[in-house]
Amino acid sequence: MSVLAVDAGTTGVTALVVSEDGLVESRGYQEFAQHFPKPGWVEHEPEQIWEAVLGACRTALTGTSSPPSCVGITNQRETAVVWDRSSLSAPRRAIVWQDRRTSEICTELREAGHEGRVANLTGLRLDPYFTGTKFTWLARHEPELWREAERGRLALGTVDSYIIARMTGGARHVTDASNASRTLLYDLSAGAWSPELCELFQVPRDSLPEIVPSYGTAGRTDPSAFLGLDLPVSGIAGDQQAALFGQVCLSPGDVKCTYGTGSFVLINTGDEIVRSNEGLLTTVAWQKPSGELTYALEGAIFVTGAAVQWLRDGLGIIGTAADSEAVASEVADSGGVVFVPALTGLGAPHWDPTARGAIVGLTRGTTRGHLVRATLEAIAFEVRDVVDVMTGAAGLDVPAIKADGGASANDLLMQIQADQLAVPVERPVVHDTTALGAAFLAGLGSGVWSSPGELERTWRLDRRFEPGIRDDEAHKRWSRAVERARHWA
Ligand code: G3P
Repeated sequence: MSVLAVDAGTTGVTALVVSEDGLVESRGYQEFAQHFPKPGWVEHEPEQIWEAVLGACRTALTGTSSPPSCVGITNQRETAVVWDRSSLSAPRRAIVWQDRRTSEICTELREAGHEGRVANLTGLRLDPYFTGTKFTWLARHEPELWREAERGRLALGTVDSYIIARMTGGARHVTDASNASRTLLYDLSAGAWSPELCELFQVPRDSLPEIVPSYGTAGRTDPSAFLGLDLPVSGIAGDQQAALFGQVCLSPGDVKCTYGTGSFVLINTGDEIVRSNEGLLTTVAWQKPSGELTYALEGAIFVTGAAVQWLRDGLGIIGTAADSEAVASEVADSGGVVFVPALTGLGAPHWDPTARGAIVGLTRGTTRGHLVRATLEAIAFEVRDVVDVMTGAAGLDVPAIKADGGASANDLLMQIQADQLAVPVERPVVHDTTALGAAFLAGLGSGVWSSPGELERTWRLDRRFEPGIRDDEAHKRWSRAVERARHWA
């Protein structure tokens, strides 16, 4: 038996076929276009996301001998998608989690005194990152479209819901609790959509998806819509929660960091809702078929891998993202250069949508090696800042951290990270942990595996990076540079 997993990320879709012993049998990947209609705006064409899902799955399935027994979905979170319930076509592009257009709506709601209540109900904060204010923006700026959502002709949801609608030929309009908990519309303690928040953000409750557990059958794929396959859709989770599951961080205190477009540090807090006033988010990790919720505390950093991408595409000073390791190794340190990659504002722990990128400390001796090294250091500093809040203000113990995602392949970054955190960083053999987590959830939901404990045996260590000497002076320089990047736009 094998499991098909779909990871619909921010820049592309990965599909894996995972065997019963937790090994990746085959893989497919397809990118889709990013649209930046105005500075600070980021949009995706839903149809292109769906085409990338089909393309990636087709490639992954070519490498297998027998059809998989179920499918799991994981996805970029918070992105707001609108589609027609009968034709399944989208009347407009999706507004992506990185989009900053709702900064003013957030300020307005904050000034009207809503932040405390919103944070209390959702575990989140009033920031353009989350789905809620993206829907408010549509209600205000596209009233005709919104009327159709209120009438029930259009469905509202996140990327998971949209993909499942497409896969099931429109039969199911569902999301799971981990995705719902990122919308600003979900009551964390009640485990349900909040009528109060739907009203505040002007969202018609009936247009939102039904919330289902993260594993267990949520629907079946329609063969005429999805590559001739009739499979149970038996696992759904937001990508960072799926990565936590894929790293088998199943016990309270287990921590992972995924290095993707951004970096996301999550610590499992079990059945306890741990709140943070210091810039961390409280979120649902997953929901069991029994309805029981597991929670996590999260540090969401918006731009890490995307900063390396910018070195490649924006500046053209490296050929591929993987080159960053060799180029940064040309120098022993960053030569005093500090790069704050606040390219879409700052997330945890600063939460400043008006921050912008800054490079300070340049001299005539600065080379591309210094700048590339400063970029890798910035990623490590950002993650350290989040973990420092976890171990400081939140009082949690982080004895080691499991790393995954594309940039975790960079040995130099992993070593700088271990040095800065002063704890070991453990990298598993499978770096595609997000998709692996979706496979685990789907396989649990359809009986390929009988208990989460069974999955623990499948985790295999590739390399453990032991902490060496910590350069606290460099971190102090970083903190000063962050202050300069803030309150800019
Ligand atoms: O919250 C945003 C996150 O889900 C995006 O993840 O890996 O697509 O950058 P990624």
